[in-house]
Amino acid sequence: MNKFLENIFATKKFTNSKNQIIDIHSETNRGQCEYLQNIIKKNNFKSSIEIGFAYGISTLAITEEIVNNGGQHLVIDKFQNTGWGGNGIDLINQAGYSGKVAFYEEFCYVVLPTLLEKGMKFDFAYIDSTKQFDWLLVDFFYLDKILDLNGIIVFDDVDFPGIRKLLRYISQFPNYKIYSQFALYHPKEKPDKLNKLIRLLPYTDKLLKEEIIKTDFELGINSRAVALQKTDNDTRNWDWHVNF
Ligand SMILES: C[S@@+](CC[C@H](N)C(=O)[O-])C[C@H]1O[C@@H](n2cnc3c(N)ncnc32)[C@H](O)[C@@H]1O
Repeated sequence: MNKFLENIFATKKFTNSKNQIIDIHSETNRGQCEYLQNIIKKNNFKSSIEIGFAYGISTLAITEEIVNNGGQHLVIDKFQNTGWGGNGIDLINQAGYSGKVAFYEEFCYVVLPTLLEKGMKFDFAYIDSTKQFDWLLVDFFYLDKILDLNGIIVFDDVDFPGIRKLLRYISQFPNYKIYSQFALYHPKEKPDKLNKLIRLLPYTDKLLKEEIIKTDFELGINSRAVALQKTDNDTRNWDWHVNF
């Protein structure tokens, strides 16, 4: 791992180019950064996109591995300068990756359609921004259209209710499969005998919460970070729907 990242994970701080000490927070932890790097390495991904820059920790981890593969990274964050003092950009520049990262200081719902219009394609995406269902559904809608076949989208913070609910929906898309999960939180959600019995009763789809009929465990999303792989183009019928 990059010496900047090694040092940051050891000290939880870094010195920016103005010689200010930046105490980091809200970052993707070391184990999860390694998880992202392993996915990129194993699949030889070369074109990545990320939403949520902050102090640039996951950005640096992704960029390091993408550049090792001869590729480039793109990151979107509306609040990089207003909320984070531009320190994410500063870290990327200090680490020597300024020419390898394109940065958009805008809301994702503004940037993503422009990338689609330009015909840009990506093979890896990491989402670590807002935790709101509707915002992230819009992000996923566009990311799906600019993601290459066999490309992978990783969602962070799947333990937040809005993101968990979104994952319950998109994990059931016929053209996506769960590639892997990081840091299992709720391994006990395997349906027990009683749960299985209840499901045999009539009208369960109307009487029971969807989370009981189909648990997060069964959907493969009972963790903090979930990687979904696009296995095919979207060929769903106009009236396609699943309960979630
Ligand atoms: C948890 S932090 C990201 C941490 C970063 N991935 C890391 O590992 O250091 C969340 C980031 O998302 C950004 N953000 C929140 N809502 C956003 C939105 N709608 N569009 C783009 N960025 C957003 C925030 O400004 C913040 O930088």
